[in-house]
Amino acid sequence: MPTDILYLLRQRVYIIFSLGCVNREILSKDRIMTNTNDKNLHQIRAGRVTLSSNVILAPLAGITDYPFRKIASGYGPGLTVTEMISARALCHGNMKTTRMATPGIDEHMVSVQLFGANPQHMKDAAIICQNLGAPMIDINMGCPQKKIIKSGAGAALMKTPELAAAIVEAIASGVNVPVTVKIRLGWDSRSINAPEFAHLMEDAGASMITVHARTKTQMFGGNTDWKAIRSVKESVKIPVVANGDILSVQDAEQCLMESGADGVMIGRGALGRPWFLRQVADYLSGNQELFQPDLRHVSKTIDQHLELIDRYYSEPASTWMFRKHLAWYTKGMKHSAMFRDTLFRVAGIENLKALKKDFFETFQD
Ligand SMILES: Cc1cc2nc3c(=O)[nH]c(=O)nc-3n(C[C@H](O)[C@H](O)[C@H](O)COP(=O)(O)O)c2cc1C
Repeated sequence: MPTDILYLLRQRVYIIFSLGCVNREILSKDRIMTNTNDKNLHQIRAGRVTLSSNVILAPLAGITDYPFRKIASGYGPGLTVTEMISARALCHGNMKTTRMATPGIDEHMVSVQLFGANPQHMKDAAIICQNLGAPMIDINMGCPQKKIIKSGAGAALMKTPELAAAIVEAIASGVNVPVTVKIRLGWDSRSINAPEFAHLMEDAGASMITVHARTKTQMFGGNTDWKAIRSVKESVKIPVVANGDILSVQDAEQCLMESGADGVMIGRGALGRPWFLRQVADYLSGNQELFQPDLRHVSKTIDQHLELIDRYYSEPASTWMFRKHLAWYTKGMKHSAMFRDTLFRVAGIENLKALKKDFFETFQD
């Protein structure tokens, strides 16, 4: 981008932002005294692996890449999960896919999530993942995307329980690491089959089950039904993790209470506020005061995240990823709409870094 355009954009941002200071609501809204129940935070045992905490970061395609997982890991989740990875592409030696499936050497507890509908491909892909260093393998049985469903993978597997079980069996017979599955309540409200389905997966060799408390037809909208997870919990002996719409620390507690689940998995609630994972853990442990990031902490976290993105990707992928996260981090701050407007017109890592710097410097106390 020509420097004069950048200069104008930066000036615009500077002027707009110098009109006020950052809305601290986003920083203070989680300033909540905690509950007193200290039984809600605990370890989870999935096969031969013990997770240090039952607060887990959800797999999010296009988001839970190495940089985001690394940042999120700083807030103590028991597990993070990669973006869903095509078993077929991995078996074909696709370089980009192989990189996605490779845990960072400094990542101690990450599960690699595979999607596919062919047991042999899934087994071969899982073996590749294990060889790449995956401590756990997760199978996507909840993705509602047309492209995925059409191939019989994702949530389509909930309509073909025998095939789903064959996949789990195949993978479990091929790797030593725990195999887990992530499902939904069922295909639609008339075909809720999560309890029987989960039981089948356990018999096939699954070590843990995460349930997104929606049906496939609900996609990502409509109400979650945490209570419906209780029958899944009652149908299996392996740990059950509840997922869907946990956006506040109280949600996490409520979700555990209603579902009877062993843990919570958090996705969108951690976007732009990875510290939410720690706040949830704080709350569930009954700590007197939740971890509260101040503006300096937020700014530093963003810088670290942007640095990781810069090192992990090349252009234009780094710009796309950078913008997305910056928009989430600044959501709720004063003038963030205007900031985002500018953000999406600025390209190049250095320019984006400068934009972020202006934004925060202007609003420092
Ligand atoms: C942008 C986006 C990407 C997602 N990618 C995946 C994925 O790769 N694998 C998966 O199992 N679920 C995926 N999900 C579903 C989430 O893991 C989670 O089940 C869902 O968002 C509900 O949890 P939440 O309300 O905490 O976000 C995705 C959801 C979103 C919004």
